Amino acid sequence: MLTPKPSPKPRINGAKVVGVRPGSPFLFTIAATGKRPIAYQAEGLPEGLRLDPATGIITGSLDARGEYRVKVTVTNSLGTASRDLRIVVGDRLALTPPMGWNSWNCFASAVTEKNVRDAADAFVKAGLRDHGWTYVNIDDFWMPKNEDKDPTLHGPDRDPSGKINSNPRFPDMKALTDHIHGLGLKAGLYSSPGPKTCGGCVASYKHEREDAERFAEWGFDYLKYDWCSYGDVEKGTGRAYYKKPYDLMGRMLRAQNRDIVFSLCQYGMDNVWEWGGEVGGNCWRTTGDITDSWGSMAGIGFTQAGHELYAKPGRWNDPDMLVVGWVGWGPALHPTHLTPNEQYTHISLWSLLASPLLIGCDLTKLDEFTLNLLTNDEVIEVNQDPLGVQAHRIYKRDDVEVWAKPLEDGSRAVGLFNVGEDEQPVSIRWRELEMNGPLQVRDLWRQKDLEAQSDGYSASVPRHGVVLIKVTEMDP
Ligand code: GLA
Repeated sequence: MLTPKPSPKPRINGAKVVGVRPGSPFLFTIAATGKRPIAYQAEGLPEGLRLDPATGIITGSLDARGEYRVKVTVTNSLGTASRDLRIVVGDRLALTPPMGWNSWNCFASAVTEKNVRDAADAFVKAGLRDHGWTYVNIDDFWMPKNEDKDPTLHGPDRDPSGKINSNPRFPDMKALTDHIHGLGLKAGLYSSPGPKTCGGCVASYKHEREDAERFAEWGFDYLKYDWCSYGDVEKGTGRAYYKKPYDLMGRMLRAQNRDIVFSLCQYGMDNVWEWGGEVGGNCWRTTGDITDSWGSMAGIGFTQAGHELYAKPGRWNDPDMLVVGWVGWGPALHPTHLTPNEQYTHISLWSLLASPLLIGCDLTKLDEFTLNLLTNDEVIEVNQDPLGVQAHRIYKRDDVEVWAKPLEDGSRAVGLFNVGEDEQPVSIRWRELEMNGPLQVRDLWRQKDLEAQSDGYSASVPRHGVVLIKVTEMDP
C-alpha cells in the first residue's frame, strides 16, 4: 500500500475548476480530508449560490455567463487550508475528467436500486467523496426488458406521453437522484440511440426528445449513450452516419434546463476522438470493453498514444472504466485479476491520460488496498489538472514506456512503466521532456520528495509496474 494515510490536518482535494451552464442547477461539493468536524467557507461566492458550512455542498444557479474565482477554506481543530475554485458559467461541462462509479463492471445485468444507493452511501462512508469522487452512474438494465424471463425487468416500456420508464428494480428514479444529490454527489444513467441497449433493454431510438426530458425531470446529471442496436435499424457509412444519432441526442440534452454530461460509447468507430466534441460529447470511449486482465487493461491503456491531440477541458478520451476492487459483471463477483503492480499501472496511466475515472467495483466490498489506491490525492490531481492536457508517450523501447503529462503549474507528471516480465530500470532524461535540470522530483504514489536530479531520473520498476513522478523546475 503506497499512499500514505491522509493527514488529520485539513486539505482540499478534487477539481479546481467547474463548468455550469447559465440557469442550470449548480451542485459542487468541496472535497476535503482531515479530522472531523470540518467547517467550510467560501469567499467571493457569486450571488445565486450558497454554501452549507457544515457539509461543503454548494448549490444554487447562476444566470450570467462569466468566470468567478472563489476562495474556499476548510478549518478543523488542527488548522486551515485554502485554495481557489474557478466556476465557469458557459457552455462547457466536465472541465476536468468526470470521477465516479458505474455499475457495469460489478453488477452488469443484475443491478438494482439498492446497489446504486449503497454505492452512493459508500462514497460518503469510505470517504471517497472527500477525494473528489462525484458521479454515481447506473449502466444498462435500469429500464424494461420484457423478453427476459426475469419478472423484475418487466413493465410498460414507456408512459402514455412516450417517455421511457424504469423497470421495477428502480421504482422511483427521482427519489434515487434526490438521495444522491442530498449527499452532494451527482447521478448518471445509460441509454442507446438504437431501439435496444446492448443488453436488450428498451432504448431511445425515435424517442430522443422524450427521453432527454425524462432524464432531466428525474434529475440525472450524466448520460452514457451506447451505440449497440443502432446499426441494426439505420444503415450507412461515413462520418455523417456515425455522428447523426449522437448529434441528435446532444441537441436534446442541451435543450434541458439541467446540465447533463454526455458520454459517447461507440468503441472508437470512425475515429470518434476527431469529432466527439462536435456533437457535444464530453467524453467518448476509444475502445471496446475492458476486462480485469493485464492483456485487456494494458492493451487498451498503452495504445492511446496520439489521442492526446483531441483531449481538452470538457472533451476527454475514455479508455473505459476501472477494473480494480471486486468486479465480475454480476451477480457473482471476484477480486480483480490485476496484480497490485498492474493496478498501480492502471490508475497511473488513466490519470496521465486525463481519462474519466469511473470505479467499476462493488463499493460495499471496498478493501483497504483498493481504497488506498483510489484515494491518493497527488495522483488524482494529475488526472484533474485544470490545464486538461492528456499525456503523450515520450518513448517506447522494448518493454519499457515513458509517458508525460504537462500540468498547469509548469511541471510534468511522468510515468515510468515496465510492461515486461522482469524488474528492470526505466529512465528519463530531462531533455526528452524538453525541460532543463536540475529538477525537483516527487514520487506521487509515496508522496515523497526525492533528491533533485541534474540530467534525468532512473528507477528500478517491478514487472508490469510503474513509478509515477512529478518533475518541477526549481526556483532559481
Ligand atoms: C457495452 C458497453 C459497456 C456496457 C454494456 C452494457 O458493452 O461498452 O460499457 O455499457 O454495453 O450492456
